[in-house]
Amino acid sequence: MTDQTYPPSAELVKNAHVDIAGYEKMYKASISDPETFWAEEARKRLDWIEPFSTVKNTDFTLGNVSIKWFEDGVLNVAHNCIDRHLDTRGDQTAIIFEPDEPGDEAQHITYNQLHEKVCRFANVLLAQGVMRGDRVVIYLPMIPEAAYAMLACARIGAIHSVVFAGFSPDALANRINDCEAKVVITADTAPRGGKRTALKSNTDAALLHCSDKVRCLVVKHTGDQTTWIEGRDVDVKAMMEDVAPDCPARPMNAEDPLFILYTSGSTGKPKGVVHSSGGYLLYAGMTQQLTFDYHDGDVFWCGADVGWVTGHTYILYGPLVNGATTLMFEGVPTYPDASRFWQVIEKHGVNQFYTAPTAIRALMGAGDTFVDGFEMPSLKVLGTVGEPINPEAWNWYNDKIGKGRLPIVDTWWQTETGGHMITPLPGATPTKPGSATLPFFGVQPVVLEPTSGEEIEETKCEGVLAIKDSWPGQMRTVWGDHERFEKTYFSDYKGYYFAGDGCRRDEDGYYWITGRVDDVINVSGHRMGTAEVESALVAHSKVAEAAVVGYPHDVKGQGIYCYVTLMNSEEPSDELKKELRDWVRTEIGPIASPDLIQWAPGLPKTRSGKIMRRILRKIAENDYGALGDTSTLADPSVVDDLIENRMNR
Ligand code: WTA
Repeated sequence: MTDQTYPPSAELVKNAHVDIAGYEKMYKASISDPETFWAEEARKRLDWIEPFSTVKNTDFTLGNVSIKWFEDGVLNVAHNCIDRHLDTRGDQTAIIFEPDEPGDEAQHITYNQLHEKVCRFANVLLAQGVMRGDRVVIYLPMIPEAAYAMLACARIGAIHSVVFAGFSPDALANRINDCEAKVVITADTAPRGGKRTALKSNTDAALLHCSDKVRCLVVKHTGDQTTWIEGRDVDVKAMMEDVAPDCPARPMNAEDPLFILYTSGSTGKPKGVVHSSGGYLLYAGMTQQLTFDYHDGDVFWCGADVGWVTGHTYILYGPLVNGATTLMFEGVPTYPDASRFWQVIEKHGVNQFYTAPTAIRALMGAGDTFVDGFEMPSLKVLGTVGEPINPEAWNWYNDKIGKGRLPIVDTWWQTETGGHMITPLPGATPTKPGSATLPFFGVQPVVLEPTSGEEIEETKCEGVLAIKDSWPGQMRTVWGDHERFEKTYFSDYKGYYFAGDGCRRDEDGYYWITGRVDDVINVSGHRMGTAEVESALVAHSKVAEAAVVGYPHDVKGQGIYCYVTLMNSEEPSDELKKELRDWVRTEIGPIASPDLIQWAPGLPKTRSGKIMRRILRKIAENDYGALGDTSTLADPSVVDDLIENRMNR
C-alpha cells in the first residue's frame, strides 16, 4: 500500500510487554530452540494438573502428518480460564455484556459469578447425559450464555462446536450431523440491530434432518414464544437453578479436542477444524496479551461474533486465560446508528479494540458525523483482522478512531491457526499500513514459488504463503477426516503448512497478504467457499449450472458474483434472481446471499469440461481486457456473451 512507517510511540514502548530488542531476542529463541521456548511459556502461562514431559512432537510429512504439543500434560481449560483466578480476582469483572438495545442495562459478570454460572451450566449438560468427548453444538447469539456454554463444555471435557447464529437451518443440520452432536444449545430468539432472529424455530427446522436423539437446550433470552417439544427441549435457565452450583473441572489431556469449528475451503462442504486443549489455550492467551499489549485491569473488546474463530480466541479463551475483562456485544455497529461502537468504547472505557476492515469501511461510509465528538481517551491499541486493509480504511481508522496516536495491529491468521500468526506487536513493531508485518513467536513463514514450490530465499519477493514448522495453536485435524486435513494443507507444497493465501515480502522482511489463491472468498470478513454457493445454486430445480467468483466490493471487500445457466425450459427474469437469492439464503444463510447474478447461456470450459474460473473472475472484476489465452476453450464465443452482459460495470 504505502511504505510509510509508523514507529511505536515512546510512551507505549516504555510500558510494553515486548519492545523491539525484546521481540528480536525472543523471536530468535523461539525458532532456534522451540522446545525450551514453549515449555517455559506453557509452564508460566497455564496451570497443569500433570506436567508435560514432551513439548513438541510434530510432523508435516504428507501421509504422516501429526501435530502434538505437550502430549502427556493434563489440564482443564475452564479451570485455567476461571478457577485459578478466583483467589486474586474473584470480584473483578470477567465479562461485560452490552445488549443490543443501548437502553438495556449492561451486565458485569465477575469471575466468581462466571464460575458459578459455568458450573451450573456444566451440571445441566451432565444431567443431559453429555460425557467427556461428546459433541455439543452451540447455536446462540452473542449473550453471556454462549460463554457459559462453551466453558461448561470445556469443564466436563465435551467438545463444543459453535455455529454462527446467522447460518440457516440447513447449515446447522449439516454441522450437527457431521460431528454427531448429542445436544444442540440455542435461544428462543436473538435480537440484533433491533430485529429478531428466530433461532429456536431455525433449530426446530434443522432437527428435522437430524437424529431424534439430539436434545435441544433452550436459553429463554427474550421470552418470545416458541414451539416446545416435550421430552426433547430443555429450559436451560430453569434447570440451572435446580442443579448444584459447583462442578469439578475434569482433568483433560493437552491433546484432547477443545472444540470443532466449521470453516469453508475451496472444495466440498465446510470442514470441522479441530483445536486442542493445551496448545490452543497457550497460544490464545499469549497472542491476546502480546499482540494487543494487554495489561491487568484493561478492558478488552473484540467485536467479532463467538461463531467465528476470532470470537473463540479473542472474546473468550485468550482474554479469560489471562484473567482479563472482555466485552461481549450483542448488537451491530450501525444500530441504533453508526456511532454505536464509539458509544460502547466510551461507556465501558475500552482499552483495546479489535474489528474487521469491512466494519471500518461501513462506518466510514456512514459519514464522520457519527464519530466526531467521540474522544475515546481510554483507547490504547486498535486491531484489525479478516482481510487486507485498504488505504482509505486504514487512514480513517488511524485518524478518526486512533486520533493519529494509536498503534494499529493488522493481524493475519486463520481458523486453522488458532491465533495470530503474522502481526505487529504494539510496543515493538514499526507498522506499515496494509502490512501484517512480522511473524509472531515460533512462527516461521516462508514464501514459495507457486508452481515449483521452492522456498524463495530473497527477502523481497512474491509468491504463496506457507509455514515451515508447527506452532502450539495449530489445528490438529479435520473432524472425522484426517486424510482431508493432510490433503488440504500439506499436499500442494510438501513439507509445509499451506495457508491458501498469496503474499509478498518487502525489503524489510515485512509480509503483505495479497488474498486467497484458491476458491475461497472473503465477504465482509466472512470466509466462504465459492463451491458451497455453487452447490446451493445447482440444488435449485431451475438451475442447470452455476459458477461463483468474488469481485471487489466497496464495503464487503469481496462480493459474490454468480454465473447461472438455467434449465432449458426456464426464462430468465428479475423475479427468478430474487428467488435464487432467497434460495441461497435458506440453504446457507444471509451471509452467502449473491450480490450479482448473471444469466450465462454457457460457461467457459476447457475441452475436458473444466470451468475456467480465471476468465470468470476477470469478467466479474470488470477487467476483461487481459483475459489471456482463451483458445483452449471448447467454445470461445461464450466469453463474448459473458463480457457483453457483465453485471459489474
Ligand atoms: C484472510 C479469520 C489479510 C486470509 C481470523 C485468511 C487476512 C483468511 C487477514 C482466514 C489480514 C485474515 N490480512 N488477510 N490481517 N486476516 N485474512 O479462517 O485470506 O475466517 O486466509 O480466520 O482471512 O479467515 P478465517
